Amino acid sequence: MAHKILLLAGDGIGPEIVGATEQVLGALRDRFGFACEFEHALMGGCAIDAHGDSLPAATLDLARSADAILLGAVGGPKWDQVERAIRPERGLLRLRSELGFYCNLRPAVLFPALADASSLKRDVVAGLDIMIIRELTGGIYFGQPRGIETLADGRRRGFNTLEYREDEIERIMRSGFDIARKRGKRLCSVDKANVLEVSELWREVAETVGRDYPDVELSHMYVDNASMQLVRTPKQFDVIVTTNMFGDILSDLAAMLTGSIGMLPSASLDANGKGLFEPVHGSAPDIAGRGVANPLATILSASMMLRYTLNEAALADRLEAAVARVLEGGIRTADIAGADDRAVGTADMTTAVIDALGAA
Ligand code: IPM
Ligand code: MG
Repeated sequence: MAHKILLLAGDGIGPEIVGATEQVLGALRDRFGFACEFEHALMGGCAIDAHGDSLPAATLDLARSADAILLGAVGGPKWDQVERAIRPERGLLRLRSELGFYCNLRPAVLFPALADASSLKRDVVAGLDIMIIRELTGGIYFGQPRGIETLADGRRRGFNTLEYREDEIERIMRSGFDIARKRGKRLCSVDKANVLEVSELWREVAETVGRDYPDVELSHMYVDNASMQLVRTPKQFDVIVTTNMFGDILSDLAAMLTGSIGMLPSASLDANGKGLFEPVHGSAPDIAGRGVANPLATILSASMMLRYTLNEAALADRLEAAVARVLEGGIRTADIAGADDRAVGTADMTTAVIDALGAA
Protein backbone atom coordinates (compact mmCIF):
# COMPACT_ATOMS: atom_id res chain seq x y z
CA MET A 1 0.00 0.00 0.00
CA ALA A 2 1.22 3.49 -0.83
CA HIS A 3 2.50 5.56 2.07
CA LYS A 4 0.28 8.59 2.63
CA ILE A 5 2.52 11.61 3.19
CA LEU A 6 1.05 14.93 4.28
CA LEU A 7 3.05 17.95 3.13
CA LEU A 8 2.67 21.12 5.20
CA ALA A 9 4.70 23.76 3.39
CA GLY A 10 3.95 26.53 5.88
CA ASP A 11 5.43 30.01 5.61
CA GLY A 12 8.52 31.86 4.43
CA ILE A 13 10.91 29.51 2.65
CA GLY A 14 8.63 26.58 3.59
CA PRO A 15 7.00 26.18 0.17
CA GLU A 16 10.40 26.26 -1.56
CA ILE A 17 12.07 23.62 0.61
CA VAL A 18 9.03 21.36 0.84
CA GLY A 19 8.53 21.67 -2.93
CA ALA A 20 12.16 20.63 -3.39
CA THR A 21 11.72 17.64 -1.10
CA GLU A 22 8.51 16.58 -2.85
CA GLN A 23 10.54 16.41 -6.07
CA VAL A 24 13.17 14.26 -4.39
CA LEU A 25 10.54 11.89 -2.98
CA GLY A 26 8.92 11.84 -6.41
CA ALA A 27 12.25 10.74 -7.90
CA LEU A 28 12.46 7.92 -5.35
CA ARG A 29 8.95 6.88 -6.38
CA ASP A 30 9.62 7.00 -10.12
CA ARG A 31 13.07 5.46 -10.03
CA PHE A 32 13.04 3.06 -7.09
CA GLY A 33 9.40 2.08 -6.69
CA PHE A 34 8.87 3.99 -3.44
CA ALA A 35 5.07 3.77 -3.11
CA CYS A 36 3.79 7.11 -1.87
CA GLU A 37 1.03 9.60 -2.39
CA PHE A 38 1.09 13.22 -1.33
CA GLU A 39 -1.52 15.40 0.26
CA HIS A 40 -1.11 19.12 0.93
CA ALA A 41 -2.62 21.27 3.65
CA LEU A 42 -2.25 24.69 5.22
CA MET A 43 -0.58 25.31 8.52
CA GLY A 44 0.98 28.35 10.18
CA GLY A 45 0.61 31.96 9.08
CA CYS A 46 -0.81 30.97 5.69
CA ALA A 47 -3.57 29.09 7.53
CA ILE A 48 -4.28 32.12 9.71
CA ASP A 49 -4.69 34.20 6.56
CA ALA A 50 -6.99 31.63 4.93
CA HIS A 51 -8.95 30.28 7.92
CA GLY A 52 -8.10 32.44 10.96
CA ASP A 53 -6.39 29.49 12.65
CA SER A 54 -2.80 28.31 12.38
CA LEU A 55 -3.88 24.66 12.66
CA PRO A 56 -7.30 24.33 10.97
CA ALA A 57 -9.39 21.26 11.85
CA ALA A 58 -9.10 19.99 8.26
CA THR A 59 -5.31 20.01 8.52
CA LEU A 60 -5.39 18.22 11.86
CA ASP A 61 -7.71 15.55 10.39
CA LEU A 62 -5.36 14.97 7.45
CA ALA A 63 -2.43 14.80 9.87
CA ARG A 64 -4.22 12.13 11.88
CA SER A 65 -4.94 9.99 8.85
CA ALA A 66 -1.53 10.38 7.16
CA ASP A 67 1.25 7.85 7.65
CA ALA A 68 3.82 10.61 8.02
CA ILE A 69 3.94 14.39 7.92
CA LEU A 70 6.59 16.62 6.39
CA LEU A 71 6.59 20.23 7.54
CA GLY A 72 8.57 23.16 6.13
CA ALA A 73 8.49 26.00 8.64
CA VAL A 74 5.90 28.31 10.15
CA GLY A 75 5.76 31.92 11.25
CA GLY A 76 7.14 35.27 10.21
CA PRO A 77 6.96 38.97 11.09
CA LYS A 78 3.59 39.27 9.37
CA TRP A 79 1.96 37.24 12.16
CA ASP A 80 3.98 38.40 15.16
CA GLN A 81 1.19 40.67 16.31
CA VAL A 82 -1.52 38.04 15.97
CA GLU A 83 -3.25 37.09 19.22
CA ARG A 84 -1.08 34.63 21.16
CA ALA A 85 -3.59 31.77 21.14
CA ILE A 86 -3.65 31.46 17.33
CA ARG A 87 -0.02 32.31 16.47
CA PRO A 88 1.79 30.05 13.97
CA GLU A 89 4.05 28.68 16.73
CA ARG A 90 0.98 27.66 18.74
CA GLY A 91 -0.31 25.68 15.78
CA LEU A 92 2.94 23.75 15.66
CA LEU A 93 2.82 23.07 19.40
CA ARG A 94 -0.78 21.88 19.10
CA LEU A 95 0.10 19.56 16.24
CA ARG A 96 2.94 18.04 18.28
CA SER A 97 0.75 17.69 21.33
CA GLU A 98 -2.52 16.49 19.72
CA LEU A 99 -0.72 13.77 17.81
CA GLY A 100 1.44 12.75 20.74
CA PHE A 101 4.78 13.38 19.02
CA TYR A 102 6.71 13.35 22.29
CA CYS A 103 10.05 12.05 21.08
CA ASN A 104 12.02 14.64 19.14
CA LEU A 105 15.22 13.46 17.48
CA ARG A 106 17.67 16.14 16.47
CA PRO A 107 20.85 14.66 15.07
CA ALA A 108 23.85 16.93 14.72
CA VAL A 109 26.03 15.28 12.13
CA LEU A 110 28.90 16.97 10.40
CA PHE A 111 29.28 16.05 6.75
CA PRO A 112 33.06 15.70 6.20
CA ALA A 113 32.88 18.10 3.26
CA LEU A 114 31.56 20.84 5.56
CA ALA A 115 34.16 20.66 8.33
CA ASP A 116 35.34 24.16 7.51
CA ALA A 117 31.84 25.67 7.57
CA SER A 118 31.68 25.36 11.37
CA SER A 119 32.72 28.30 13.49
CA LEU A 120 34.67 25.84 15.64
CA LYS A 121 38.08 24.45 14.72
CA ARG A 122 38.05 21.56 12.28
CA ASP A 123 39.54 19.01 14.71
CA VAL A 124 36.92 19.83 17.37
CA VAL A 125 34.02 19.00 15.03
CA ALA A 126 35.44 16.63 12.39
CA GLY A 127 33.49 13.37 12.54
CA LEU A 128 30.85 14.82 14.87
CA ASP A 129 27.77 12.61 15.16
CA ILE A 130 25.53 13.27 18.14
CA MET A 131 21.83 12.74 18.67
CA ILE A 132 19.86 15.13 20.83
CA ILE A 133 16.58 13.67 22.04
CA ARG A 134 14.20 16.34 23.22
CA GLU A 135 11.00 15.63 25.13
CA LEU A 136 8.46 17.49 23.00
CA THR A 137 4.98 17.43 24.50
CA GLY A 138 5.54 18.28 28.15
CA GLY A 139 7.54 20.50 30.44
CA ILE A 140 7.30 24.25 30.60
CA TYR A 141 5.95 24.50 27.05
CA PHE A 142 2.65 22.97 28.14
CA GLY A 143 2.51 23.20 31.94
CA GLN A 144 -0.51 24.81 33.59
CA PRO A 145 -1.13 27.36 34.96
CA ARG A 146 0.37 29.84 32.53
CA GLY A 147 -0.40 33.40 31.65
CA ILE A 148 0.08 37.08 32.30
CA GLU A 149 -2.04 38.53 35.07
CA THR A 150 -2.43 41.92 36.68
CA LEU A 151 -1.80 42.02 40.39
CA ALA A 152 -3.83 44.03 42.88
CA ASP A 153 -1.23 46.77 42.85
CA GLY A 154 -1.47 47.10 39.08
CA ARG A 155 1.86 45.45 38.31
CA ARG A 156 1.75 42.58 35.84
CA ARG A 157 3.10 39.10 36.46
CA GLY A 158 3.96 36.51 33.82
CA PHE A 159 4.16 32.84 34.78
CA ASN A 160 4.63 29.37 33.35
CA THR A 161 4.78 25.99 35.00
CA LEU A 162 7.56 23.48 34.65
CA GLU A 163 6.28 20.00 35.40
CA TYR A 164 6.99 16.44 34.38
CA ARG A 165 5.08 13.34 35.37
CA GLU A 166 7.02 10.19 36.06
CA ASP A 167 5.47 8.38 33.10
CA GLU A 168 6.42 11.20 30.72
CA ILE A 169 10.02 11.01 31.90
CA GLU A 170 10.05 7.26 31.68
CA ARG A 171 8.89 7.04 28.07
CA ILE A 172 11.39 9.61 26.76
CA MET A 173 14.14 7.86 28.72
CA ARG A 174 13.21 4.54 27.13
CA SER A 175 13.39 6.18 23.69
CA GLY A 176 16.80 7.56 24.66
CA PHE A 177 18.14 4.21 25.83
CA ASP A 178 16.71 2.37 22.82
CA ILE A 179 18.41 4.77 20.44
CA ALA A 180 21.69 4.84 22.41
CA ARG A 181 21.72 1.06 22.26
CA LYS A 182 21.71 1.21 18.45
CA ARG A 183 24.52 3.79 18.40
CA GLY A 184 27.51 4.35 20.70
CA LYS A 185 25.74 3.01 23.83
CA ARG A 186 26.29 6.21 25.81
CA LEU A 187 23.38 8.27 27.07
CA CYS A 188 23.81 11.63 28.78
CA SER A 189 20.73 12.94 30.57
CA VAL A 190 20.76 16.73 30.86
CA ASP A 191 18.90 18.44 33.71
CA LYS A 192 19.18 21.11 36.39
CA ALA A 193 18.90 18.81 39.39
CA ASN A 194 20.99 21.10 41.58
CA VAL A 195 18.14 23.60 41.59
CA LEU A 196 14.87 22.13 40.31
CA GLU A 197 12.75 19.44 41.98
CA VAL A 198 11.38 18.38 38.60
CA SER A 199 14.97 17.68 37.55
CA GLU A 200 15.54 15.65 40.69
CA LEU A 201 12.66 13.40 39.67
CA TRP A 202 13.96 13.37 36.08
CA ARG A 203 17.34 12.08 37.29
CA GLU A 204 15.80 9.48 39.57
CA VAL A 205 13.62 8.07 36.78
CA ALA A 206 16.62 8.07 34.42
CA GLU A 207 18.50 5.89 36.90
CA THR A 208 15.56 3.52 37.34
CA VAL A 209 15.03 3.07 33.59
CA GLY A 210 18.79 2.70 33.17
CA ARG A 211 18.71 -0.52 35.18
CA ASP A 212 16.88 -2.13 32.25
CA TYR A 213 19.76 -1.13 29.95
CA PRO A 214 22.95 -2.35 31.61
CA ASP A 215 24.74 -2.26 28.25
CA VAL A 216 24.21 1.51 27.92
CA GLU A 217 26.39 3.87 29.95
CA LEU A 218 24.22 6.52 31.61
CA SER A 219 25.64 9.85 32.75
CA HIS A 220 24.05 13.06 34.01
CA MET A 221 24.99 16.63 33.32
CA TYR A 222 23.61 20.00 34.39
CA VAL A 223 22.35 21.99 31.46
CA ASP A 224 24.70 24.93 31.96
CA ASN A 225 27.69 22.62 31.95
CA ALA A 226 26.26 20.68 28.98
CA SER A 227 26.12 23.85 26.89
CA MET A 228 29.74 24.55 27.74
CA GLN A 229 30.83 20.96 27.02
CA LEU A 230 29.00 20.98 23.69
CA VAL A 231 31.21 23.81 22.50
CA ARG A 232 34.38 22.62 24.24
CA THR A 233 34.49 18.93 23.24
CA PRO A 234 31.26 18.06 21.43
CA LYS A 235 32.53 14.64 20.40
CA GLN A 236 32.39 13.43 24.01
CA PHE A 237 28.62 12.98 23.49
CA ASP A 238 26.76 10.17 21.80
CA VAL A 239 23.09 10.57 22.73
CA ILE A 240 21.73 13.40 24.87
CA VAL A 241 18.24 13.16 26.36
CA THR A 242 16.64 16.23 27.86
CA THR A 243 13.51 18.26 28.55
CA ASN A 244 11.49 20.29 26.10
CA MET A 245 13.03 23.69 26.76
CA PHE A 246 16.60 22.57 27.43
CA GLY A 247 16.41 20.55 24.20
CA ASP A 248 15.14 23.54 22.27
CA ILE A 249 18.16 25.56 23.34
CA LEU A 250 20.83 22.87 23.13
CA SER A 251 19.72 21.75 19.68
CA ASP A 252 20.24 25.23 18.21
CA LEU A 253 23.67 25.26 19.78
CA ALA A 254 24.47 21.82 18.40
CA ALA A 255 23.23 22.92 14.99
CA MET A 256 25.96 25.52 14.72
CA LEU A 257 28.63 22.92 15.43
CA THR A 258 27.81 21.45 12.05
CA GLY A 259 28.26 24.67 10.15
CA SER A 260 24.73 25.59 9.27
CA ILE A 261 21.35 25.25 10.79
CA GLY A 262 20.29 24.87 7.15
CA MET A 263 21.60 21.31 7.26
CA LEU A 264 19.78 19.84 10.24
CA PRO A 265 16.72 17.59 10.06
CA SER A 266 14.46 16.47 12.88
CA ALA A 267 11.92 13.77 13.61
CA SER A 268 9.13 13.91 16.18
CA LEU A 269 7.72 10.48 16.88
CA ASP A 270 4.70 9.13 18.71
CA ALA A 271 4.55 5.89 20.68
CA ASN A 272 3.98 3.89 17.47
CA GLY A 273 6.77 5.45 15.47
CA LYS A 274 4.53 7.66 13.35
CA GLY A 275 6.12 11.05 12.95
CA LEU A 276 6.31 14.68 12.00
CA PHE A 277 9.48 15.56 10.14
CA GLU A 278 10.79 19.08 9.85
CA PRO A 279 14.03 20.99 9.45
CA VAL A 280 15.38 22.47 12.67
CA HIS A 281 15.64 25.90 11.09
CA GLY A 282 12.77 28.39 10.82
CA SER A 283 10.91 30.10 8.00
CA ALA A 284 13.72 32.57 7.17
CA PRO A 285 11.41 35.35 5.94
CA ASP A 286 14.43 37.44 4.92
CA ILE A 287 15.27 35.07 2.04
CA ALA A 288 11.77 33.71 1.29
CA GLY A 289 10.73 33.57 -2.35
CA ARG A 290 14.23 34.20 -3.68
CA GLY A 291 15.07 30.63 -4.57
CA VAL A 292 18.25 30.60 -2.48
CA ALA A 293 17.18 28.57 0.58
CA ASN A 294 19.09 25.41 1.43
CA PRO A 295 16.67 22.48 0.98
CA LEU A 296 19.01 19.90 2.54
CA ALA A 297 17.61 20.00 6.10
CA THR A 298 14.15 19.22 4.71
CA ILE A 299 15.49 16.59 2.32
CA LEU A 300 17.34 14.99 5.25
CA SER A 301 14.12 15.19 7.30
CA ALA A 302 12.47 13.15 4.54
CA SER A 303 15.28 10.67 4.93
CA MET A 304 14.50 10.39 8.66
CA MET A 305 10.86 9.84 7.66
CA LEU A 306 11.92 6.96 5.41
CA ARG A 307 14.05 5.47 8.17
CA TYR A 308 11.98 5.96 11.32
CA THR A 309 8.36 5.85 10.17
CA LEU A 310 8.07 4.30 6.71
CA ASN A 311 10.48 1.38 7.16
CA GLU A 312 12.45 2.27 4.06
CA ALA A 313 15.99 2.25 5.48
CA ALA A 314 17.60 1.39 2.15
CA LEU A 315 16.04 4.44 0.52
CA ALA A 316 17.10 6.58 3.48
CA ASP A 317 20.69 5.36 3.07
CA ARG A 318 20.54 6.11 -0.62
CA LEU A 319 19.22 9.61 -0.05
CA GLU A 320 21.81 10.44 2.62
CA ALA A 321 24.59 9.11 0.40
CA ALA A 322 23.32 11.34 -2.41
CA VAL A 323 23.46 14.41 -0.17
CA ALA A 324 27.00 13.52 0.95
CA ARG A 325 28.09 13.07 -2.66
CA VAL A 326 26.64 16.43 -3.69
CA LEU A 327 28.51 18.14 -0.86
CA GLU A 328 31.73 16.32 -1.72
CA GLY A 329 31.28 17.57 -5.27
CA GLY A 330 31.52 21.11 -3.88
CA ILE A 331 27.92 22.12 -4.54
CA ARG A 332 26.87 24.67 -1.92
CA THR A 333 23.92 26.90 -1.18
CA ALA A 334 24.81 30.35 0.16
CA ASP A 335 24.51 29.40 3.85
CA ILE A 336 27.21 26.73 3.59
CA ALA A 337 29.36 28.30 0.87
CA GLY A 338 32.95 29.22 1.65
CA ALA A 339 34.55 32.43 0.45
CA ASP A 340 35.73 30.78 -2.79
CA ASP A 341 32.56 28.82 -3.57
CA ARG A 342 29.97 29.85 -6.08
CA ALA A 343 26.61 29.35 -4.36
CA VAL A 344 23.75 27.59 -6.14
CA GLY A 345 20.06 28.11 -5.47
CA THR A 346 17.38 25.77 -4.15
CA ALA A 347 16.48 24.36 -7.57
CA ASP A 348 20.06 23.50 -8.59
CA MET A 349 20.78 21.91 -5.23
CA THR A 350 17.62 19.80 -5.56
CA THR A 351 18.50 18.70 -9.08
CA ALA A 352 22.00 17.78 -7.91
CA VAL A 353 20.59 15.57 -5.15
CA ILE A 354 18.14 13.90 -7.56
CA ASP A 355 20.98 13.25 -10.03
CA ALA A 356 23.14 11.82 -7.25
CA LEU A 357 20.46 9.29 -6.29
CA GLY A 358 21.75 7.10 -9.09
CA ALA A 359 19.80 4.53 -11.06
CA ALA A 360 17.66 1.66 -9.88
C1 IPM B 1 11.83 24.48 17.49
C2 IPM B 1 11.25 25.86 17.48
C3 IPM B 1 9.87 25.81 18.12
C4 IPM B 1 10.06 25.37 19.56
C5 IPM B 1 9.06 27.11 18.04
C6 IPM B 1 8.94 27.62 16.62
C7 IPM B 1 7.72 26.95 18.67
O1 IPM B 1 12.12 26.75 18.10
O2 IPM B 1 11.20 23.56 16.92
O3 IPM B 1 12.92 24.31 18.03
O4 IPM B 1 10.38 26.18 20.43
O5 IPM B 1 9.85 24.18 19.82
MG1 MG C 1 14.00 25.90 18.62
